[in-house]
Amino acid sequence: MRIKTATLAGVATIEIARPEKKNALTIAMYETMAAALEAAVADPAVRAVLITGQPGIFTSGNDIEDFMARPPAEGPEAMDSPVFRFMRALLNCDKPVVAAVTGAAIGIGTTMLLHCDFVYVSDEARLAMPFTSLGLVPEFASSLLVPQLMGHARAAEKLLLGEAFTPEQAVECGIANAVLPAGEVVAHARRVAERFNALPPGAVRESKQLLRGPTRAAVLEAMRTEGERFTRRLRSPEAMEAFQAFFQKRKPDFSKF
Ligand code: COA
Repeated sequence: MRIKTATLAGVATIEIARPEKKNALTIAMYETMAAALEAAVADPAVRAVLITGQPGIFTSGNDIEDFMARPPAEGPEAMDSPVFRFMRALLNCDKPVVAAVTGAAIGIGTTMLLHCDFVYVSDEARLAMPFTSLGLVPEFASSLLVPQLMGHARAAEKLLLGEAFTPEQAVECGIANAVLPAGEVVAHARRVAERFNALPPGAVRESKQLLRGPTRAAVLEAMRTEGERFTRRLRSPEAMEAFQAFFQKRKPDFSKF
């Protein structure tokens, strides 16, 4: 079971649990996470959602073998694929979503945080969006939201160079709320999620809709535009070189492009 789901004390937990592959996300895992988010929205007993990983790893992002062997359809049909269903489900979740970033958060591991409402990061975590070094482009509206959050100069470091950043930098640039000791991050995030049990759910939902409302159309548009390029680039020789290099445990060679 690579995604564990449970609802307890008003909190629907989605736990990424594939530690042997550093919690890399497969098509089936996106499907399960999308379904869990949709179920959380529909279940009146759920007041908040908690997304978490394993000790030392939040997620290493999309499974690179899936990227090579089973990429989402190219072009506009990409929006029907499981990864986009997950993205839409997170976007459509009008209940508070709390993330406990238990360790490294790579690629979509970082970009999904842009759509969570509370983000707590382990002091041992590293965040990174190394899309260009994989021959890819930003996704999940990160090309829109990252510059909005931190300005173009710092966004270029993170999205063009793919520079990793520390939990403290994630807080400083507005992606995360706080850094916690590794052993405390999940419990802290859960306590925050449970606080919604004492608040009126209708007011919380409508408030979240209002907070996210003004940027919603632009976010969806960015996801579509990025998605078209991303799915095309997944099939590019640059990406193939990057993926093969990853599995051959060598440095990619982009000198021929
Ligand atoms: N997709 C598929 N497999 C992955 C993976 C991914 N995204 N991330 C890690 N794995 C696999 C490795 O291939 C390895 O498998 P093996 O044991 O069969 O060789 C296993 O998980 C352990 O990974 P490893 O790289 O040895 O662990 P590490 O502790 O040295 O490094 C990371 C951890 C997360 C820094 C590193 O795995 C990494 O950079 N992963 C890729 C991140 C990435 O580029 N994601 C895509 C973003 S769009």
